[in-house]
Amino acid sequence: MQTLLKISNPAEIETECLAVIALDNGEKDKNSARVATEEKAVADAVADLISSGEVTGKTLETVLLHAPRGLKAKRLLIIGGGKAKNFSAYELRKAAGTAVRFLKPRGLRKLAFLAPSGFDGANNAVRAIVEGALVGDFDPDTYKSDRKDQSVHEFTVVAPANGNQQELDRALQEARVVGESQNFTRELVNEPSNRMTPTILATRARQMCEEIKSPHLKCEILDGDAIRQLKMGAFWSVAQGSDEPPALIVMRYSPPGAPEKPVLGLVGKGVTFDTGGISIKPADGMEKMKYDMAGGAAMIGAMRAIALLQPKIKVIGIVCATENMPSGKAQKPGDVQIAMSGKSIEIINTDAEGRLVLADGLYYARQLGCTHLIDAATLTGACVVALGMVNAGVFANNDDIYERFSKALQRSGEKMWRLPLDGEYQELIRSGIADIVNSGGRWGGAVTAAMFLKEFVDETPWIHLDIAGVAWMEENKSWIAKGPSGVPVRSLVEFVRSFENKN
Ligand code: BES
Ligand code: MN
Ligand code: ZN
Repeated sequence: MQTLLKISNPAEIETECLAVIALDNGEKDKNSARVATEEKAVADAVADLISSGEVTGKTLETVLLHAPRGLKAKRLLIIGGGKAKNFSAYELRKAAGTAVRFLKPRGLRKLAFLAPSGFDGANNAVRAIVEGALVGDFDPDTYKSDRKDQSVHEFTVVAPANGNQQELDRALQEARVVGESQNFTRELVNEPSNRMTPTILATRARQMCEEIKSPHLKCEILDGDAIRQLKMGAFWSVAQGSDEPPALIVMRYSPPGAPEKPVLGLVGKGVTFDTGGISIKPADGMEKMKYDMAGGAAMIGAMRAIALLQPKIKVIGIVCATENMPSGKAQKPGDVQIAMSGKSIEIINTDAEGRLVLADGLYYARQLGCTHLIDAATLTGACVVALGMVNAGVFANNDDIYERFSKALQRSGEKMWRLPLDGEYQELIRSGIADIVNSGGRWGGAVTAAMFLKEFVDETPWIHLDIAGVAWMEENKSWIAKGPSGVPVRSLVEFVRSFENKN
């Protein structure tokens, strides 16, 4: 999808389809919809649809008008933005995705989207529109033999004439980088495990680092021997059961002019398939465990965006990639493993493997000099029970870093909710034979998993994202396809960029 910016009178835009937002002013007992633009020609074209009650401004409502009077566009697509007083970048992103997904099956390949007026910062509007459009353009039907290219080829953001061209252009380019990186992550997550082994994931990471041609992004892949030599006993204990070799993917972004500190560590769970191991999962729904590498894929996508956006901050991306398989070589419940940090772990459940690979990934990040850590993992079913599929779980060992991250969430529009890490939970992961167990039992499963990780980060300011419920969309939405969501790529990028502003 090509993305363009036009500063122009919307009535003059020649396109197959012009999309505009309609907002609901929220007056009682009457249709108080209005289009979100100062342009009279557009408002006039929609006036009849509003008075007839066909356009109400209801969230993500779509109405298509052919040959709109007074406009050069062949069609006018009116998308509901919801209540005017609540309208923000969050709704705008979804509206743009909805516009793209409305057009795709209808064979229309060109779309112009009118940036709403009265929005808090025209460049924020452009950013949200482009991100939303790119997210909407992605479909996961890669292996259908009758797959047709339905993607929108040309997407133009129409900005008001008083906009600052240079600033808006920059917003558009940056949003494109972020949206495309999110889709890159979704591509990786979408692949089935026979086509996305740890080795293939590592190759894709390496290729990405080469393709973007940044002299400041380097990729290193450590194999099983190296993992053992580093004494990553927790990571290796998961990998040992599989015939597919594991890979430790290390992507270093080190731009000129970056201060020595901070060094941000982005650590992702890259379990390319999780059978549960000897504590094997039930067959029902097991096919979904191909997305157990979504945290790792998010780190690869985020590193892509970061290297292209070039913030002057050092960042290291680490992905612990392995399968979790049962076999004659697999670890068994009761086994004791020694992590790279030296901590001993009693394996209660081989299905609690994500925390094992991350334990060594996080510790390794600290060894490489990371001063701040953030990890993402499809870590627990318990997090899905707690928060459903709307919010990811956020854990933080430090309120300052949480505050910073929560600002990044505001900008990214990704939904997450903080969960606790009180000391009282620690007793749930005590072991009789070793330092800790790898499973805290039934209650508070998302918290005890996070408590386990905390053992390996110590005092380093750290954020843990449990994305089990949000990395995969269970159904099609008007603005995004069923399948991989690409969460939390945008938040990771915003988080990293926040360190540039020193606030
Ligand atoms: N990958 C799973 C968690 C998961 C569940 C991701 C559902 C996506 C959707 C993880 O490795 C796992 O199996 N966790 C166990 C932990 C338990 C054995 C302590 C779980 O959540 O049941
Ligand atoms: Mn598991
Ligand atoms: Zn898992």
